[in-house]
Amino acid sequence: MQLLGLTLQSPFLAAPMAGVSNPAFRLMARRAGAAMVYSEMVSAPGLLRGQPQTLRLTRSLPGEKPLVLQLFGADPEQMGQAAAIVCTLGADALDVNMGCPAKKVRRPGAGSALLEDPQRAAEIMAAVAQNSRLPVSAKIRLGPNSDITEDLVPRLVKAGAQAITLHARTTRQGFGGRADWDAIKRLVSWCPVPVIGNGDVTSGRAAVKMLQETGCAAVMIGRGAMGDPWIFARALARLAGEEPQPVTPAMKRKALAEHLELAKGLGGEGHAIHFVRQFMMWYSRGLPGASQFRRQAGPCRDLDQLWELCDRFFLEPEELLPRQPEQAA
Ligand SMILES: Cc1cc2nc3c(=O)[nH]c(=O)nc-3n(C[C@H](O)[C@H](O)[C@H](O)COP(=O)(O)O)c2cc1C
Repeated sequence: MQLLGLTLQSPFLAAPMAGVSNPAFRLMARRAGAAMVYSEMVSAPGLLRGQPQTLRLTRSLPGEKPLVLQLFGADPEQMGQAAAIVCTLGADALDVNMGCPAKKVRRPGAGSALLEDPQRAAEIMAAVAQNSRLPVSAKIRLGPNSDITEDLVPRLVKAGAQAITLHARTTRQGFGGRADWDAIKRLVSWCPVPVIGNGDVTSGRAAVKMLQETGCAAVMIGRGAMGDPWIFARALARLAGEEPQPVTPAMKRKALAEHLELAKGLGGEGHAIHFVRQFMMWYSRGLPGASQFRRQAGPCRDLDQLWELCDRFFLEPEELLPRQPEQAA
């Protein structure tokens, strides 16, 4: 399928998630079957100031493309300048965050605060589109506390948005309540550009259901992919009418090892421990003995010890390889 001028292998996309969607997460999602991945939101003012922690968020790994880099900001001029920079950083498309409910993002007027000012939202979209040689899109919510998409979306499209992602909740809802899939269906019925549906897709079955019930062009999966990149493979299998392959603990252990190597390469061992521990917690969900494993792994700061716990938890006794002397040291 075609979206944002890109040829995608499937309609299932990995959502932008601050603190989660780093290159290792995105690569794992791509390997499991996500057709396209989004970066964490990147601050336009931070990018313009060349802040190291902002620049770090723009890094990517070769295998993860197609990659959409998401910007947030409140000022049209700054957003335009940031868009021009992003175009040099290897992303395939550029998205504008108009949905983040976090106070520190809203306070200066960015993220979901833009839903309260559709005029400025459109000015930002126009500035980004005019300064970008990449396709541009917007990720919105329904509105501050009711559905304002009929007012907002035509302005964004006129300003140059080539796709709209709708997280079908209001700002007031935060991440609670239920996403309103009927609102996605309504938007699809008249929106002149492709609509990407988002909200509450927690299984392969739900991903296909959203496609079928709303008619959206693609489905974006967020929390459902945290610690479960295989959700994309399950969605693909369901779409093909096939039974998905079960995910075994050994597959999780293998994915953790891959994660660890990627995370080490990106940020060194300290970063890798923090990052991989988070994934261990997620991957342990639903497995017998998970709470005891979490209690032991949670405070552990030593990579070798953490890895030993991980082997014992995820592998069957016969799968445990004798440790090499240099590893045991
Ligand atoms: C930890 C976390 C971080 C998020 N960060 C971003 C972000 O940087 N940019 C964005 O547009 N949405 C962000 N979101 C929202 C998700 O992209 C998505 O819209 C939302 O979680 C609803 O989809 P889901 O039900 O599949 O999780 C974040 C969500 C979570 C849970």
